[in-house]
Amino acid sequence: MQPAKWLEENDANIINDLAKLVAIESISTDGEHQKELDQCAEATCELMKAAGLNNVQTLKTGNSNPYAYGEWLGAPGKPTVFLYAHHDVQPVKGFENDWLSPPWTLTERDGRLYGRGAADDKGAIVTQLGAVASHLKTKGELPCNVKMLVEGEEEVGSTNLRGFFEENKDRLMSDVIVVCDTENVEIGLPCLTYSLRGIVELHVTVRTASSPVHSGMAGGMLADAAIALNVVLSRLYWNHKKLPVPGLYDKVRKLTPAEKRAFKKVGGDEAKWRSDNGILDGVELALPTKVHPNEATWRNPSITVIVQEASSMRAKSNQVLPSAQAYVSCRIVPDQEPDEVYEQIKAVLVKDPPWGVKVEVKPTAKLKWWMTDPTGPAFTAAQKALKKGFGAKPVPIGCGGSIGFVGPLAELFGGAPALLLGIEDPLSKAHAPNESLHAGDFRKLTASLAHLFDQIGDLPDGKVK
Ligand code: BES
Ligand code: MN
Repeated sequence: MQPAKWLEENDANIINDLAKLVAIESISTDGEHQKELDQCAEATCELMKAAGLNNVQTLKTGNSNPYAYGEWLGAPGKPTVFLYAHHDVQPVKGFENDWLSPPWTLTERDGRLYGRGAADDKGAIVTQLGAVASHLKTKGELPCNVKMLVEGEEEVGSTNLRGFFEENKDRLMSDVIVVCDTENVEIGLPCLTYSLRGIVELHVTVRTASSPVHSGMAGGMLADAAIALNVVLSRLYWNHKKLPVPGLYDKVRKLTPAEKRAFKKVGGDEAKWRSDNGILDGVELALPTKVHPNEATWRNPSITVIVQEASSMRAKSNQVLPSAQAYVSCRIVPDQEPDEVYEQIKAVLVKDPPWGVKVEVKPTAKLKWWMTDPTGPAFTAAQKALKKGFGAKPVPIGCGGSIGFVGPLAELFGGAPALLLGIEDPLSKAHAPNESLHAGDFRKLTASLAHLFDQIGDLPDGKVK
């Protein structure tokens, strides 16, 4: 039997495997789901064994969440493909009522599979294992070697990953990295992502007094911490220009004319961007004049206030609030330096505080951007495989999001090519209520990966770069 045929015949089982993973509330962002993270790593190991991988086990380093690991190394002399995905997911808290079906029950509607983690990134686990099984179950072997690592803390910045890699370097060492944790910018269009943004996160605290004071007594006299914080944050308002942060763009790598042309061709038009992002009528796109959204989100820095707090809605009372805080998250791009970006943004936030309030800024995360040249044998193999699996010509794209491990791993593997194949699409709503996976593209990606193993096994002299 051909692997493609096997995938067709086992489609229902594969989707059922995804349902099993989605049912586990493996949230990594709140520190309250250790049991579920352990369970999810175990469940991933069970699926790895069922697919035919060997040496399957959970691994840890220090106090990390568990990684699930499995391998098949029966093709001596052939390249080794490193498959990466993550089994941790984002929370649903606070937005449970916005879900049209229960977040932890995989539910099919109109060709999409709904559930927390369906697209980001449990679908990838099942896609990769489906492709592995399609070979092992039909031929008893794979055309290349495979090592698969499924991480449990991607959504919190993969902080232990570098240490984990260093400890397990010999075990993990591979020739090509394959990640399915990025987006296809249109349904049915296979995309190869060759850049990721990094992140610089800052914690801003404003203080005015030692405790809250009755607003009937102090209102009008005591500086308002909530207003002061928002005055400070408003200095980041960019209108339709570049971000008002001196020096921020000094090192931003310019797009080549070819990139400019290519980026404009994909992703649709304003009507589609508006509807994909649920933008309300009358609300403008916040783009700088004449900058295409793909350029703005893939290769320009951006700043977002991801949370702010001065009190809580439940504690509403007539008081002047003495402190207020926010997290400011800046996505950074080639060739920006995280440390420099931190200093540049901090300088804007601490300058001339209103009423002389105390403004304190601290770095809470720094993650490098990543970018590669998407050419060479491994990329050609990926293009052929995606073309076969999707029946459409693949396009190289950038990504506005971050995946902490790609850069360090490629480096550790001595510059191994990293193939980032899309699993999400513009309607996936990763991190949000009603997250979903496009079932048709999921099947095409699985078939593409099965072809990719063939393509990599066929590379002359096993040369991937
Ligand atoms: N799958 C995403 C990365 C992504 C984002 C792909 C947008 C395509 C479009 C990944 O799981 C993610 O969300 N990463 C975090 C990393 C952060 C915690 C360091 C992110 O980008 O916020
Ligand atoms: Mn992800």
